[in-house]
Amino acid sequence: LPTLAILGATLLTGCQPVTQSLSIGDMASAYNREIWWMSIWAIALSIIIFIGVSYALFYTVQKFREDRHDAPPAQFHGNNKLETILVAVPVVIVILLSVLTVKSMAVLNPTPNQATKIDVLAKQFWWNFAYPEVTSDAGGVVTNGNEMIMPTKEAVALTITSGDVIHGFWAPNIGGQRAAMPSVKKTWQVDNDRAGVYQGNCSQLCGASHANMRYKVIALDQDRYNTTLAAMKAYRAPEPAPGSAEARGYTLFMQGKASTGATSCAACHRVQGTPAAGVQGPDLSFFGTRRTLGAGMWEAMTDAQWTDAKAAEELHAWIKHSPLVKPGSLMPTYDGSEYMVKGKMVKGGTLTDAEIDDIAAYLRSLKLPEEADYWKGTP
Ligand code: CUA
Repeated sequence: LPTLAILGATLLTGCQPVTQSLSIGDMASAYNREIWWMSIWAIALSIIIFIGVSYALFYTVQKFREDRHDAPPAQFHGNNKLETILVAVPVVIVILLSVLTVKSMAVLNPTPNQATKIDVLAKQFWWNFAYPEVTSDAGGVVTNGNEMIMPTKEAVALTITSGDVIHGFWAPNIGGQRAAMPSVKKTWQVDNDRAGVYQGNCSQLCGASHANMRYKVIALDQDRYNTTLAAMKAYRAPEPAPGSAEARGYTLFMQGKASTGATSCAACHRVQGTPAAGVQGPDLSFFGTRRTLGAGMWEAMTDAQWTDAKAAEELHAWIKHSPLVKPGSLMPTYDGSEYMVKGKMVKGGTLTDAEIDDIAAYLRSLKLPEEADYWKGTP
């Protein structure tokens, strides 16, 4: 019964119109439908068996109560008919469940066909999503950090790997979890028929910020998906106006500040259409369009919320000393504080608060055109 209640609850949540959802009962995904029906079969069979066994038990206890039978019970050895039934019934059940399981396995692990391809890279403690079939006009493959865009009503082949330790890719609305392992690339095909924003998590304990290793799966209807990917392909980071905060931020982003030991952001981050081509950290090309920060540590539900004072404070704190707000973050500190890299304490460089705000302003300016804002229409 508790199992039924849980399954029932997940089905109910799966049936609601989904905008921001985390549910294994999302029936818009072939994977979840298969698991659901497989569970229904297994539970139905269990209930039938439970009723049968309970009936036999109570029947026997009642019928052969001692006070009704003074004489000793019939003495006999063996009953071929009964034994045949007792073996045959479980065999039939096991065969039935095996057939259902094998059928489900084929659905849950389909052979990748003409699917849209997305390369998933897990690292301590963030995700990068690359579109290997989409080469940017500015060079390189289109990638995005911590926000995975996928089309609806179409198979999506995820090739999952890790850049360091074992992580777990798990966005329940599109399917079960898959291990992300270093040096191993596994392809797994998923889908979801309904546009929406789905929560993804790392499902494998992987270090200090395992719990801060989240991502969003944003399923867009075909035309919106195509528009977004086309805009990502054509995207070149906007040139900041000379003398603006963005322009000062751009210079700091690209060069750092050698005099105070502040390393450049470009050494670790990529911004499409600029010389920044680092791959140590998440791709920041569309940072201004993203609504999550620090691999989902902070998220905004609306664009307005994302640009308010609190979000500005969070971004400021993030750039200033990310390892202090997110344990295990490999990003250097920019307020001179010490942080740990591979078990050793190191000292970061320093930037002034004004310089940090300039970098934040530059990052905010890295926006996709309005029509390609994949968050548009979500709450
Ligand atoms: Cu990555 Cu837990």
